[in-house]
Amino acid sequence: MKAVTIDTLAPHIGQRVTIRGWIHNRRAAKGLVFLVVRDGTGLVQCVVNQKDAEPDTWLTAESLTQESAVAIAGEVVADARQVGGVEMQVTRLELIHKAVDYPITPKAHGVEFLMERRHLWLRSRHQWAIMRIRNRIIMSIHHFFQEQGFLQMDAPILTENAVEGTSTLFGIDYFGQPAYLTQSGQLHGEVMAMAFNKIYTFGPTFRAEKSKTRRHLTEFWMIEPEMAFYDLDMNMELAEDLLCRIAQDALKDSSVELEVLGRKVSALQSVRKPFVRISYTDAVDLLNSDKTADLLSTHESTLRTEQIELEKERAHNSSVYGQAKKWKKRRLDARAIEINARLDEITEVLRNIPVWRSSARSFEWGGDFGGSDETLLSWHFDRPVIVHRYPAAVKAFYMKRDPEDDRLALGMDVLAPEGFGEIIGGGQRADDLAFLEAQIEKHQLPREAFEWYLDLRRYGSVPHSGFGLGLERTVSWICGLDHVRETIPFPRMLGRLSP
Ligand code: 4AD
Ligand code: MG
Repeated sequence: MKAVTIDTLAPHIGQRVTIRGWIHNRRAAKGLVFLVVRDGTGLVQCVVNQKDAEPDTWLTAESLTQESAVAIAGEVVADARQVGGVEMQVTRLELIHKAVDYPITPKAHGVEFLMERRHLWLRSRHQWAIMRIRNRIIMSIHHFFQEQGFLQMDAPILTENAVEGTSTLFGIDYFGQPAYLTQSGQLHGEVMAMAFNKIYTFGPTFRAEKSKTRRHLTEFWMIEPEMAFYDLDMNMELAEDLLCRIAQDALKDSSVELEVLGRKVSALQSVRKPFVRISYTDAVDLLNSDKTADLLSTHESTLRTEQIELEKERAHNSSVYGQAKKWKKRRLDARAIEINARLDEITEVLRNIPVWRSSARSFEWGGDFGGSDETLLSWHFDRPVIVHRYPAAVKAFYMKRDPEDDRLALGMDVLAPEGFGEIIGGGQRADDLAFLEAQIEKHQLPREAFEWYLDLRRYGSVPHSGFGLGLERTVSWICGLDHVRETIPFPRMLGRLSP
């Protein structure tokens, strides 16, 4: 009998098929064993009925452990209550491999415990949903650019020069010559834009920042389009179109996954053009304003209400715990971990709010926005907001200056809504040779390593622009995850290099 995957079961209703997968969950009742089986494409409930099953199948079913590998033959029947609308009635069950004492049990675990077992954690339902959405986003990005005639190109990973400032480079020894893991493919992307007009890179990038925040990885994937003859406005428009496409495709094709994650889809539905575009200077005014202070106060009281509700629920749950049945206890245990984690988060935010408030109120023109400033700015809008024209002093050496105000760089950042922070950074590039030479000197960059880059300004220099989209931050925004660590299969962060 042909083996099929769980995602293709529905057309087989009324037929006998075989599936192969792993035991996600097992529950026994009198004369019945309910198996939830996963095969990577989905989950399906398989029912073994002692009356109908062959004797050895019944024995196997009774002894199955979590994550054991199995092949199951049976009839596919319609059952609207099940995910995917089907269930399997098992006739034969073959054990492929028995898993003993799988460490990640259905009870909830802390995130550090799970991170240590990332190689197994990836089998869980949440991780399944996240990785599938990541895949969906990657495909959307490729389709978006390919449909518009962009050439995908791979920038080198080993480089001799810094792109985004020298402080965050991972240095390596390249046969006796110092070299670095790339922070960004942009400079090589600019080369390719002069040769191929519109290009994009899609590759790993590395940052040695010692910051342990929910938005920082040391290794992350970046998508960097670079376009000849694009000015800042065209660049912003392209960024808008890209983010709209990502959100719409996720809504269209990842609804099951978004539901598994409990993502509020209305937040993604409002991602439509035009986005709000505000200048850095206006963003500073907004941060300083009463409007921002009011938003914070509202947020604070919402959190206090939630805190009280959760504390009530916790007290109630512990009062009923003693009399609860075993299955109910398990559920209460899991809920307790959730409640405590959320209460910790709330306490942390409530402790930070006064700091956020005063940092926003007293933010001075000229500084770079911190994480909390970005969060506050994004709360004012229901869709991504583009902040443009930053002070040149806080931006990279390659940015073009605003012809209307020399203090400003023609840079832009896109902040995701709901406080997910900066997901895109980019801008229009300096195209004047003398200006760029002076910048390289001012930033104390090694001139020789940039000669090839300067050649772009010697031979047919044109206005051009581009940006970098951080894949993991985009995944955390679309999935509604407040930390980037679960958005990549094997996160690399300060203090984590394994598994
Ligand atoms: O703003 P960044 O540093 O810009 C550049 O690297 C430009 N050279 C891009 C360009 O114009 N071609 O980084 C771009 C994006 C950020 O907006 C963020 O989404 C992501 O990359 N990013 C990180 N993601 C995870 N962990 C980190 N440490 C990140 N640093 C940047
Ligand atoms: Mg940036």
